[in-house]
Amino acid sequence: MKANAGVTVVLAAGEGTRMRSLRPKVLHAIAGRPLIAHVLAAAGVDGGHCAVVIGPDHGEVADAVKLIAPDAQLFVQSERRGTAHAVLAARAALSGAVDHVLVVFGDTPLITPGTLHRLRDAVAAGAAVAVLGFRPADPTGYGRLVVEGGQLVAIREEKDASPAERAITLCNAGAMALNGKTALAILDRVDDRNAKREFYLTDAVAIARADGLAVVAIETEEDEVRGINTRAQLAEAEAVLQRRLRQQWLDAGVTMVAPETVFLSADTKLARDVVIEPHVFFGDGVVVEEGAIIRAFSHLEGAHVGKGARVGPFARLRPGATLGTDVHIGNFVEVKATVMENGAKANHLAYLGDGRVGEGANIGAGTIFCNYDGVAKHRTDIGKGAFIGSNSALVAPVSIGDGAYVATGSVITENVPADALAIARSRQTVKENRATRLRQSKSAGKTKRAHATEQAE
Ligand code: UD1
Ligand code: CA
Repeated sequence: MKANAGVTVVLAAGEGTRMRSLRPKVLHAIAGRPLIAHVLAAAGVDGGHCAVVIGPDHGEVADAVKLIAPDAQLFVQSERRGTAHAVLAARAALSGAVDHVLVVFGDTPLITPGTLHRLRDAVAAGAAVAVLGFRPADPTGYGRLVVEGGQLVAIREEKDASPAERAITLCNAGAMALNGKTALAILDRVDDRNAKREFYLTDAVAIARADGLAVVAIETEEDEVRGINTRAQLAEAEAVLQRRLRQQWLDAGVTMVAPETVFLSADTKLARDVVIEPHVFFGDGVVVEEGAIIRAFSHLEGAHVGKGARVGPFARLRPGATLGTDVHIGNFVEVKATVMENGAKANHLAYLGDGRVGEGANIGAGTIFCNYDGVAKHRTDIGKGAFIGSNSALVAPVSIGDGAYVATGSVITENVPADALAIARSRQTVKENRATRLRQSKSAGKTKRAHATEQAE
């Protein structure tokens, strides 16, 4: 194995029953990405080996891990017998000559690569065990770090703690790094003689100390190590992550008028001088290029917004919406799987699905790409510089040539050649003075009916 090779073990065999969900806990998402994906992303920084421990009925988790981290090895912990027992389920991944073993929890998604580096560095500097500690506002339920003479000597789980130990405010966050040379020897000596009859990973601290090995604690902020057991905690973690993501993009040169109202995905990419107005939602897979403006109340997902483009207010970009430079998408316009080439415009009330709009083409208000016939989806192709008059229905599959002109209110069912004019609506007829006569005959009818009822009474 290469130098500095380490193994990261992600524990994800927890039941998560307090989520009241049919879905395994680690597949719940924050910032558009499953909890376990955040953990894998944070842990994956050194390119080392990764082992994920899942429960016996966790096929869905296995599938997700294969997608997110195809190189990760999966291990099944057949019985839930504690955190040390879970790490040992990945024994095969720990048995080689590994420098360090890093253990992280699948339900602690806000942990950062920097903190995991500090844990690994502590092991590289000579510690047999490095523990991540924090001082929670409410320590209830956490393991306490027992420090004597400035040295970490043990971690006591709350259920096993004396009243004096329960008064300790420094708690175990859950992440731990172990020296690869001694990790297995330590873990194999963990027993289940405790209140929960579980094999506690935290016992590694006292065992290493008894062997005269160095043990250290590293401290971090509570926001980084919030574990998720309930939907309320999921929402809290989402809030923390959103604040972090907004700050990251503000620092990168993005203007947000009201950052607290903008929702980002973990994979959102925003370039310099992008402006985001209040109440914008970014789903998965959005890229916005330099100088583009996303106006208020827009919803974007799987979309690419080109340089200097203008989107919204109240626009919806769905997966495959690809906007070139200086494209304008106005209010109540929905774009899906459609390429808008440079300078193309759809400024008001339109549905553009499964198509292409050529460079500089103009889509009038109320235009619809009728892409779906109830069975299959079809494409609409609009050439460069074409003009689509307001309230036109383009019945796909259909193509409008470069520079062509579609008259307002047309229902286009056949291709329109380049530079042609297509009018597909019934011709207007005008009857002189008919309005006056119509009104007269209607009011005469009304008087007659009134007389008739009077006589009947
Ligand atoms: C654990 C720590 C505690 C710490 C707290 C931080 C131990 C013994 N205790 O307690 O000191 O303060 O986390 O949140 O480590 N898991 C398995 N298989 C098992 C048991 C657990 O995979 O048999 C996984 C869970 O999916 C979860 C993680 O390990 O991701 C932690 O397990 P959990 O039961 O939540 O531990 P806590 O009691 O919270
Ligand atoms: Ca927990």
